[in-house]
Amino acid sequence: MALTLLVNTLLLAIPLGGSVGTLAGIDAHRAATGQKGLFTGDDSSNGGTGSSGGSSGGSDSTGGGSGSNNTISDNHTKNSQYCQSSYGITPPTQGEQFTLNPNQWGVTDTTSGWLCMNVTTFNNETYATKTTAPDWSVTWQFDQGPETQPVHAFPNIQVEDEFPLLVDGVDAIDFELAYTYGVGKTVATTMDESALTAASLQANVAVDMFFDADKERAQNSTLARLEVMVWFARFGASSDPIGYPTVVTTQTVNDTKFELYKGPRTAGSTTQYVLTWVAATNTDSFKGDIFPLVTNLTSLGGDNYPNNTDYMGILQFGTETYSADSNVTFAVSDLAIDVKKS
Ligand SMILES: *[C@@H]1O[C@H](CO)[C@@H](O)[C@H](O)[C@H]1NC(C)=O
Ligand SMILES: *[C@@H]1O[C@H](CO)[C@@H](O)[C@H](O)[C@H]1NC(C)=O
Ligand SMILES: *[C@@H]1O[C@H](CO)[C@@H](O)[C@H](O)[C@H]1NC(C)=O
Ligand SMILES: *[C@@H]1O[C@H](CO)[C@@H](O)[C@H](O)[C@H]1NC(C)=O
Ligand SMILES: *[C@@H]1O[C@H](CO)[C@@H](O)[C@H](O)[C@H]1NC(C)=O
Ligand SMILES: *[C@@H]1O[C@H](CO)[C@@H](O)[C@H](O)[C@H]1NC(C)=O
Ligand SMILES: *[C@@H]1O[C@H](CO)[C@@H](O)[C@H](O)[C@H]1NC(C)=O
Ligand SMILES: *[C@@H]1O[C@H](CO)[C@@H](O)[C@H](O)[C@H]1NC(C)=O
Ligand SMILES: *[C@@H]1O[C@H](CO)[C@@H](O)[C@H](O)[C@H]1NC(C)=O
Repeated sequence: MALTLLVNTLLLAIPLGGSVGTLAGIDAHRAATGQKGLFTGDDSSNGGTGSSGGSSGGSDSTGGGSGSNNTISDNHTKNSQYCQSSYGITPPTQGEQFTLNPNQWGVTDTTSGWLCMNVTTFNNETYATKTTAPDWSVTWQFDQGPETQPVHAFPNIQVEDEFPLLVDGVDAIDFELAYTYGVGKTVATTMDESALTAASLQANVAVDMFFDADKERAQNSTLARLEVMVWFARFGASSDPIGYPTVVTTQTVNDTKFELYKGPRTAGSTTQYVLTWVAATNTDSFKGDIFPLVTNLTSLGGDNYPNNTDYMGILQFGTETYSADSNVTFAVSDLAIDVKKS
């Protein structure tokens, strides 16, 4: 009996800690998206919180880069590295606009570890297709944080200029993804899960979306009534989703089976409801429409699920970094997000 209680407390404590952090992190991110990006040289966010811990990784300039942010260019592409705790990178594009952010919101003076984000842009100011995002990667290592705040960062890419949209006004969100997570500071060619386990990696790979009946609140990750996540992978027990281990329902999208977990999270005076679809087995690639994972929820009904008159305000994709014993690299080689309106 005592043991059961203890276990339950632990399971509860972990997601709660993580959640509060997620909120703060995305808020930090939202604050940063207002900043000018790569090509304007304005970095007013850098004087803000936690540049202390986050920037310790700035020493990771092993590649012989030159100029600001270790930029290496040839005639076609440019690779820049960002070790700032929070920095909005909005490369020019002729298609879908994205903002990238290292978003190291959980890094404090006492954090041991570092994180740097690399972004590859095309000099012709476009990408391979209208909906393709720039290639990016994150290399990091963090020691385990306190149970109340185990997440150190949510480095992510956010879709700009599409939201807010009524749920009813979205036809599909075609999502194409290929990535690797690997041990070391270089991009792994394949994902070796046993090596990641041996490195005690605690992290997930996830889409993060926010909903509310109010247009403005839907665009504020702290105030939005609902958060819906889609996890393609999770590594280590720290990253149990809220509501784990009770699976509410399952849904299969183009051969990838997702299991739904649900539960509330309270931060201060606000309670937000969190719905998390987790791939039943980790997958390093995906192609399909993720919007049925939202619209199928509308049929469940009630305040804890989105409905057709709710607004979708935010769509981000990234990795929540908890901890790892070795340096690890998350590299996104293929990402295209196509928001189709009805
Ligand atoms: C990165 O580039 C921005 C814009 O040029 C600059 O303000 C910032 O100081 C650079 N950061 C580093 C670590 O070089
Ligand atoms: C991880 O990378 C950092 C920064 O380059 C380096 O100082 C450290 O030795 C590396 N850690 C391991 C375990 O290789
Ligand atoms: C990131 O960029 C830095 C600086 O150019 C380079 O040293 C490092 O190897 C790059 N990391 C990856 C994973 O590409
Ligand atoms: C870049 O372009 C210049 C001028 O056309 C050319 O001389 C040089 O070889 C090119 N460099 C690379 C790396 O392609
Ligand atoms: C832009 O540059 C990239 C990288 O060199 C190339 O693959 C792409 O075809 C170019 N796009 C256009 C429209 O020229
Ligand atoms: C979101 O709402 C919170 C609470 O009202 C506020 O402090 C924060 O500034 C808002 N964030 C944005 C990006 O508007
Ligand atoms: C939506 O979820 C319900 C409940 O599990 C399931 O029966 C139904 O097949 C799902 N719909 C789709 C389109 O997958
Ligand atoms: C389903 O996945 C396969 C394999 O990646 C892909 O070729 C196909 O286009 C996907 N179907 C849809 C509807 O996205
Ligand atoms: C949708 O949900 C909101 C919040 O729970 C509620 O106010 C609204 O009445 C719902 N709309 C419908 C059509 O059910």
